[in-house]
Amino acid sequence: MEKIAVLTSGGDSPGMNAAIRAVVRKGLYHGLEVIGIKHGYAGLMRGEMEVMDLGSVADIIQRGGTKLYTARCEEFKTPTGQAQGAARLREWGIDALVVIGGDGSFRGARALSALGINTVGIPGTIDNDIPCTDYTIGFDTAVNTVIEAIDKIRDTATSHERTYVVEVMGRNAGDIAMIAGLAGGAESILIPEAPFQLPEVLQRLQHGIERGKRHSIILVAEGVGHGMKIGEQISEATGWEVRVTVLGHLQRGGSPTAFDRALASRMGAFAIDLLLQGTTSVMIGVRGQQLVPIDIEEALRTPRSFDMSLYELAGILSI
Ligand code: F6P
Repeated sequence: MEKIAVLTSGGDSPGMNAAIRAVVRKGLYHGLEVIGIKHGYAGLMRGEMEVMDLGSVADIIQRGGTKLYTARCEEFKTPTGQAQGAARLREWGIDALVVIGGDGSFRGARALSALGINTVGIPGTIDNDIPCTDYTIGFDTAVNTVIEAIDKIRDTATSHERTYVVEVMGRNAGDIAMIAGLAGGAESILIPEAPFQLPEVLQRLQHGIERGKRHSIILVAEGVGHGMKIGEQISEATGWEVRVTVLGHLQRGGSPTAFDRALASRMGAFAIDLLLQGTTSVMIGVRGQQLVPIDIEEALRTPRSFDMSLYELAGILSI
């Protein structure tokens, strides 16, 4: 193994830069040549490659986004696109590719592996929706961003004695809503993993009012539906003044937390260790404190686990 490449793909997440930095610096430390590929798989197909040195990843550990840019690439989902990507890597004499991204990115990595390319995947997405890993890079930062927003919204919700619906990201996963709701004391949390029943939500809110609560925050994961629509439903059913905030893409930005920087640094370095010991076609997962290689095929077919007990706890504590 002499020459490796790294790319980021799919939605960016805070901490991707720290992962790139770790791949580059650990690779150089072991005498590897490291190539950065810009714009994910789209850039790979176009041959957007540059040689990385120690300085090229200076001053990025604290920055959100990705220095290598990212893209969602439809063409790379086709056998022609994948063959073109593999051909580019061979043209450049690249022995292995580190892919930082989510499940779509790992499907791309699996296709490259099938074409004989050595690959290692690093889970980077705010959604925390990748099987076989407790955490993905960026999730912790996104949750902290949501909590900060909830705290601010609560100030005005308390002052006006209003009900607020706050919609958060997560695609089909409720992890951001669940953990931010637990940590932010949301009165109700709506996630795709639990059926949404309006009467139940209203009953919870009513119960709060009866015990003297004058405001409430309902956290809605985007996988459940539009916050705006749910706000209207609550308003129609109760006659209350409901305000809706959609946090949107601000959840994807910002300086990564210490947790995400450390996780990304560890995962980036571990990717190099795996490649040097000849372990490829894997995704890196974190289980407890331990980093583990997981066969990429297994990672893609394993159903995602979800800790319902935390959701129930949030419900108990917010009564
Ligand atoms: O996967 C990350 C994510 O931010 C999801 O939470 C969200 O549904 C989606 O990406 C938004 O995608 P885009 O940036 O293409 O609008």
